[in-house]
Amino acid sequence: MKTKTYRLDRFIQKYMGTALGAVRLMVAQKRILVDAEYATSVQQLIGEFTAVIVDGQTLQNNHPRYIVLHKPRGIVSATSDEMHTTVIDLLPQDISEGLHLVGRLDFNSTGLMLLTNDGQWSRGINDSVKKVPKYYRVTLDKPVDDAVVAAFNAGIYFAYEDITTQPAQLNIISPFEVEVILTEGRYHQIKRMFGHFQIEVLTLHRFKIGRFELEDDLPEGAYRLLTDTERRLVL
Ligand code: URA
Repeated sequence: MKTKTYRLDRFIQKYMGTALGAVRLMVAQKRILVDAEYATSVQQLIGEFTAVIVDGQTLQNNHPRYIVLHKPRGIVSATSDEMHTTVIDLLPQDISEGLHLVGRLDFNSTGLMLLTNDGQWSRGINDSVKKVPKYYRVTLDKPVDDAVVAAFNAGIYFAYEDITTQPAQLNIISPFEVEVILTEGRYHQIKRMFGHFQIEVLTLHRFKIGRFELEDDLPEGAYRLLTDTERRLVL
């Protein structure tokens, strides 16, 4: 999701059809407020959350929203679906308006989902350079051994995309239960990595992204707004 930034004159032109030269005059006449201050230059940059008022008329006044949701099984990670309930359906409409998903979980996976209308934030979380870690608790139909741990760490080849997965950490908790730490999010990634060894994933729960952990008192299906501190823990 790309976040658009405009120069002030192009922004006003787009919303009001005003000629670029006329915007310069409006700035000089102090008719434009940008984030509650008089505009000083037609070159000021207007982002998706910059408030712009012209002659008392609000052209844009969006606020960033950051949501944490505890996804239950049997819910689709999508903004719309003809057959099933989506994570967006779990939110009231005034909250869900304009949100997108920061990564996905499979239909039967559970746990930490983040949603936002801030494209810059979500891009940072999925950035292949930043490598924000995502933590999963996974139960399996067969026990894993050290060879699987080593293979996860070395990366596993996915023929369909012709890529090798980034090093992933696999911590054995008990013979049939492991913790997986990924820094990327490919389609069905964990299931496919275990599938490579004919091991089936029985349950998969994401409990942490970055340094932000899904707390026990947010029940399945429930959501809340993230605080600024929590948002910084994610990224
Ligand atoms: N990997 C998977 O296979 N499924 C998920 O839901 C998340 C990661």
